[in-house]
Amino acid sequence: MNTQDEYSMTYLDSCARPVLLLIHGFPMDSLMWQIQLEDLGDMARVVAPDLRGFGGSPATLSPYSMGMFADDCASLLDYLAISRPVVVGGLSMGGYVALEFYRRYPLRVAGLILASTRAAADSPEAQLSRDKLAARVRQRGVSAVVEALLPKLFAPAMHRRHAETVEFVRQMMLAGSVEGVVGALMAMKERPSSLPTLPTIAVPTLVIHGNQDAVVPLAEAQAMAAAIPDARLKILRGVGHMSNLEEPDAFSDAVADFLDELGAEEE
Ligand code: MLT
Repeated sequence: MNTQDEYSMTYLDSCARPVLLLIHGFPMDSLMWQIQLEDLGDMARVVAPDLRGFGGSPATLSPYSMGMFADDCASLLDYLAISRPVVVGGLSMGGYVALEFYRRYPLRVAGLILASTRAAADSPEAQLSRDKLAARVRQRGVSAVVEALLPKLFAPAMHRRHAETVEFVRQMMLAGSVEGVVGALMAMKERPSSLPTLPTIAVPTLVIHGNQDAVVPLAEAQAMAAAIPDARLKILRGVGHMSNLEEPDAFSDAVADFLDELGAEEE
């Protein structure tokens, strides 16, 4: 460290662990990462923001964009005085934000974790569905998004065997604000394709995907991993879209192995 008079000090810091920024999916909040905070807290400083309009972060007026979410994450790191490169992970919409963050702040990224997500932009049909869903949310509130999305989020067996996890996610979805949900829908609708970004990614990347994901087909994640120069793909069997909650141990283990690998590369 160089102080003002150019005197150079060395120091120990108990917070010298790698920083893992975990960005939630739509329409969730940081609570979805609770298990990973517990599982990974010993080996990393885990920072999980509530994106604008979700959890405790108040909504603002539209327009929302992936760029706005990425800038908010960068501002949070600035606020926490984290200037060294961090591992940025995102699930689904969080993955869209992570890719946008990488485009905007490549030097702040030590590694990427892309979970249950895709690189392609919305098709015209998907954009139309976003508009229809946003209209329903404006009319009937956020329960409209729960009805549309919840049945697709989990592998079928989860609904039978882990009804409490499904209920936890339902409550998290219901806690979202109309402005935040509509803003995020429009941001996803307008997001640029990240396909051209993939071959330019110069950091190690972990792609995690459930083979029963009904929101983003596994083939898209496989193609995404194949297009990223230094990517490894972890497929979770019998798992749907909410990969970090459906198989939390396997998910956290994959992230822990990735962090170990990154640490070993640094040494
Ligand atoms: C999510 O899980 O974040 C969303 O379902 C992603 C999307 O709708 O594209």
